[in-house]
Amino acid sequence: MGLIIAIDGPAASGKGTLARRLADTYRLNHLDTGLTYRAVAHRMLIHGLPLDNQSAAETAARQIDLGALDRTVLSAHEIGEAASKVAVMPRVRAALVEAQRRFANQPPGAVLDGRDIGTVVCPDADLKLYVTASPQERAHRRYTEIIANGGTADEAAILADIERRDARDMGRADSPLRPAADAHLLDTTTMDIEAAFRAARDLVDQAIAARSAD
Ligand code: DC
Repeated sequence: MGLIIAIDGPAASGKGTLARRLADTYRLNHLDTGLTYRAVAHRMLIHGLPLDNQSAAETAARQIDLGALDRTVLSAHEIGEAASKVAVMPRVRAALVEAQRRFANQPPGAVLDGRDIGTVVCPDADLKLYVTASPQERAHRRYTEIIANGGTADEAAILADIERRDARDMGRADSPLRPAADAHLLDTTTMDIEAAFRAARDLVDQAIAARSAD
């Protein structure tokens, strides 16, 4: 069985960047599971289907091709909002979790990031990280990113969005966002990405050493 690293955390916590860099460094497959929920939401929006139509959303979830997730299209803000709505439906989650587990079990191992990786998708992962930062800091990072890309944004509106999304992701009945009991907490509020990456890499190295000691 390959090495499996589970990374969870709220929107804009930096977990995606960390996951990508860890996968590159340790030559593991990488899946941003948020994209799978976004792909379902995108199909529902394209077909004009109500976001709470569980049967249609489950069908869409069963048809998602993990190899064809287009981040450029799926990263749109309204798709993220819609994804957080389709993600409350248990049949959608069951279908996506099945595909995510198949992905995780392919050699040489994988880094998966999302909201329920350590708690539900890969409860036996070799390492679980819960990456977080204050809502204000996450809003500020997103604002800076948009401005740096030449866009315009309202930081207070971004903060309100982040708080609404956190409430939905943490408050749902099925697989709410929360740290697994055995997750390592990485609060990046006052850490830059390099410091967060170094801390994560130390934890991965320890997990690899623990595997070879078994
Ligand atoms: O990480 P993201 O913004 O791409 O995720 C979009 C939404 O998908 C998020 O608000 C909740 C949902 N999601 C989930 O419920 N479980 C996951 N493992 C990943 C994402």
